[in-house]
Amino acid sequence: MRKLIIAISAIALAGTAAMADPIADRQALMKANGKAAGVLAPIVKGEKPFDAEAVMAALKTLEENADKLDVAKLFPAGSDKGGDTTASPKIWEATADFQAKVEKFKADTAAALAAAPKDVSELKTQFGMIGASCGGCHESFRIKKG
Ligand code: HEC
Repeated sequence: MRKLIIAISAIALAGTAAMADPIADRQALMKANGKAAGVLAPIVKGEKPFDAEAVMAALKTLEENADKLDVAKLFPAGSDKGGDTTASPKIWEATADFQAKVEKFKADTAAALAAAPKDVSELKTQFGMIGASCGGCHESFRIKKG
């Protein structure tokens, strides 16, 4: 997975168009989001001690992933089909709304990183904002399975 993410970054840096498998690529990006959120959630819940370094690394990952959320590349027309995807057809019916969610996610992750939370209470505020961004997009643009 890590290799795939590095590959995605390399492609993004090179500015190459058209990815081979946009469904796999966007799911890899989302899995990395899940992993970063998985570092923060137990800290917010008080299950793990506040670790400034781990928190900042996770926030940086989220901010970088938000930047990589290129709708044209990762959600090309027709990619609601042809693979095991939970992307909702609404992405292609209301693309401007979807793009707005992407922009919000970018702004929220950048703000959280800039805020550089120094304790659990500060992290709670930032994590709440990011979580609402994830959930807000999933609510509208992801098909719930089972
Ligand atoms: C702009 C919209 C948007 C935002 C913001 C967003 N997601 Fe997603 N997410 C999606 C879509 C669309 C899918 C379905 C992708 C697919 O299956 O093709 C998805 C899928 C996922 C998946 C499943 C990946 C898989 O392997 O099938 C996880 C985990 C996930 N998101 C976590 C997160 C987390 C955590 C955040 C916030 C930190 C987040 N997402 C923010 C739109 C978004």
